[in-house]
Amino acid sequence: MKPLKVALLGCGTVGSAVLRLVDEQAADLTARVGRPVQVAGVAVRRPDRHPDVPAGLLTTDALGLVTRDDVDLVVEVIGGIEPARTLIQAAIEAGKSVVSANKALLAEDGVALHAAAAKAGVDLYYEAAVAGAIPLLRPLRESLAGDQIRRVVGIVNGTTNYILSRMAETGHGFAEALAEATELGYAEADPTADVDGFDAAAKAAILASLGFHTAVTAADVHREGISSVTATDVARAAEIGCTVKLLAICERVPANGDGEGESVAVRVHPAMIPTSHPLAAVGGAFNAVFVEAEAAGQLMFYGQGAGGEPTASAVLGDLVAVARNRVAGAAGAGPTAYADLPARPIAET
Ligand code: HSE
Repeated sequence: MKPLKVALLGCGTVGSAVLRLVDEQAADLTARVGRPVQVAGVAVRRPDRHPDVPAGLLTTDALGLVTRDDVDLVVEVIGGIEPARTLIQAAIEAGKSVVSANKALLAEDGVALHAAAAKAGVDLYYEAAVAGAIPLLRPLRESLAGDQIRRVVGIVNGTTNYILSRMAETGHGFAEALAEATELGYAEADPTADVDGFDAAAKAAILASLGFHTAVTAADVHREGISSVTATDVARAAEIGCTVKLLAICERVPANGDGEGESVAVRVHPAMIPTSHPLAAVGGAFNAVFVEAEAAGQLMFYGQGAGGEPTASAVLGDLVAVARNRVAGAAGAGPTAYADLPARPIAET
């Protein structure tokens, strides 16, 4: 059986977990896909920093790798806008299906990338971009595609959830809790993207786009981080039976009597929620997303939102999906998810 060949872009925490799992689960992947799935190359900036990867797989020529004739599928786990955007565009134009974990890129350029994938008749899947291991994006764009989603409310940033949880548990202030999160490796050396809400805003834009079948970018999201939340805020919230969480809130806003049409409001900010709400119980660095839909009612998705193996699990799930579509000779539900639908105005928040 001719193998499906995969180009892996990036080999950091997630990429190396993907590489290992593809190798360890080769027999199962072959059975699940119908053809062997084989890594054809791994593009990295510094090959000398990857002694565990077979030298014959490593390359610094990412563009050459993604456009190689024998490559069928591309997995992008580099992150950030460039060079990921150029490489994904080149891969799509060369007829390769793409799996990405790149929230920043999808939140900025999702519409254009979906349109390019639809035009090329290939898949673009990115389950790992939001909430790590939690199956969430395909449920929104596929399982719930026949329903009307009213609201998506989530804890989608593990670092800030860890900080706020520790502030509640210990009575410490933001700075002490952040220092602890940094020491334990939850927070990056530069924690700005997490604590100022940029990471959550990108994820919120993706959730709103897929949940409401419209185009929302990170720039459309009202954003406020947690650095001004004090120990007193957290203690006062507890006194009235609430807990403070950084929430991503995506809502469908109905048309009003003044002739303003239906719109979508998306925001990220710290919020007090009653301790009886399921999201209040989400501690540590976990993620959870609460969805309200007309027919389905209330749904809750919970699990590990970051980390090499949990994120690699989502990447591999997508890899199996796009590989199966390739074997079947058809692109799946991804490319037409929202690209051809008009953007709605974002409501004032
Ligand atoms: N920095 C992110 C978080 C990693 O803390 O949730 C996963 O996107």
